[in-house]
Amino acid sequence: MTSFTQAFKFQNPTIINFGLDTASGIADLVAELGGSKALVVTDQGLVDHKIVNPAIQSLEESGCKPVVFSDVPPDSDLQCVERAIEYAKREGCDVVIAIGGGSVIDTAKAVNIGLCNEGDLRDFEGINCLTHRLKPMILVPTTAGTGSEVSAVAMIRDKENGKKLLYGSRFLFADIALLDPRLLVSLPPHLTAATGLDAVTHCLESFVSTTANAVSDSLALEAGILLFANLPRATSCGDDLEARSSTLLASCMAGLAFTNAGVGVVHALAHTIGGKYGTHHGLTNAVLLPFGLRLNMSTTEKLYARFWRHLAGSGVSRDMPYTSLVYDPSLNDEQAALALVVAVEELLKLCGLPRSLRELGIPELTDEVVMELAEVAMTDPAIMFNPGEVTVENLVDILREAF
Ligand SMILES: NC(=O)c1ccc[n+]([C@@H]2O[C@H](COP(=O)([O-])OP(=O)(O)OC[C@H]3O[C@@H](n4cnc5c(N)ncnc54)[C@H](O)[C@@H]3O)[C@@H](O)[C@H]2O)c1
Ligand SMILES: [Fe+2]
Repeated sequence: MTSFTQAFKFQNPTIINFGLDTASGIADLVAELGGSKALVVTDQGLVDHKIVNPAIQSLEESGCKPVVFSDVPPDSDLQCVERAIEYAKREGCDVVIAIGGGSVIDTAKAVNIGLCNEGDLRDFEGINCLTHRLKPMILVPTTAGTGSEVSAVAMIRDKENGKKLLYGSRFLFADIALLDPRLLVSLPPHLTAATGLDAVTHCLESFVSTTANAVSDSLALEAGILLFANLPRATSCGDDLEARSSTLLASCMAGLAFTNAGVGVVHALAHTIGGKYGTHHGLTNAVLLPFGLRLNMSTTEKLYARFWRHLAGSGVSRDMPYTSLVYDPSLNDEQAALALVVAVEELLKLCGLPRSLRELGIPELTDEVVMELAEVAMTDPAIMFNPGEVTVENLVDILREAF
């Protein structure tokens, strides 16, 4: 249990603007921020699905002509960011809007770094490497998973060096996170599930992290309930606005939790595997999560038990067929903690998610590659927040078992 005598800092400077059809009012927000020419970062799929239309229409009607950059690939890379920076500079943009999933949002953040700093983007990689404010930013998520709209980090792939660059700075907080659940209706089932498991991983890793605090705990717990109760429905019934609203809100809450408390071993491995093989972040977390939970079991049994009691006590099994979440007050900590791991496995099954790295398209892992991945993951900043000590051997075991 988090001790209330322990000092902590919780920060969130971002205004959270949540509601159906709020994207149609984005021009007012741009005006509030003093912007006159907005760069809209998005991807072609979102343009094709007309997801950007309400925001673009709002900007056009207000006379704030949008400059649209729609060339963001999934798991964006430096080349894409550089192209967008050049375009935005040429057009004289003074506000940055992202409409998309984590890849688009992280691209927009990196573009903003480049708009306000001279030099190679690699020079600004790392934690606290930015020295001044960037241009105003409005981030509009169209997936419910990354929480990037309220986080102070951006992850960009450096394809040349086969790794993901991490940018972390308070200047990467958005001015406004605009959450419009209607924008998620077109998100296909497999992406709904995969992105949702990123949020579930944020809840569970931040809840047991070394820097968890009372505020991040409450966000992680409530977001966990919303996700277990609504993610299977959002996956199978994409136009269920109640389920979409709940998962979008939960993703944002989990984003606030991990931004302040950190993540752990599952993310360290997912970042490493994603950097090398380009696998989807949420999907990679989904496969690794049960293994990460089991690894941490000895140090976090009490916390997992607390999470399970909160989840099972919420009555989530009344509406969803989780056999592991039927509340039983007689379970001891060990039994409750194990029930939480089974609940995650049931959630993966209900959402039709893969259970092995092989199913993500990763080729045979040789001893050499496993060791390389484990060693790189040991240097990932996420590992610092993992509750128990992690060794290279632990990571090797997870990689072998998860394959
Ligand atoms: N900065 C952070 O705090 C943070 C946290 C976690 C993950 N990430 C990053 O986020 C990225 C993953 O983001 P993601 O999981 O949101 O996926 P994504 O942004 O890569 O999107 C995946 C696909 O979904 C499509 N899509 C998105 N919204 C849609 C919609 N509403 N309808 C139809 N299609 C839609 C996109 O076009 C894309 O093809 C990774 O690069 C990861 O590193 C960042
Ligand atoms: Fe994540």
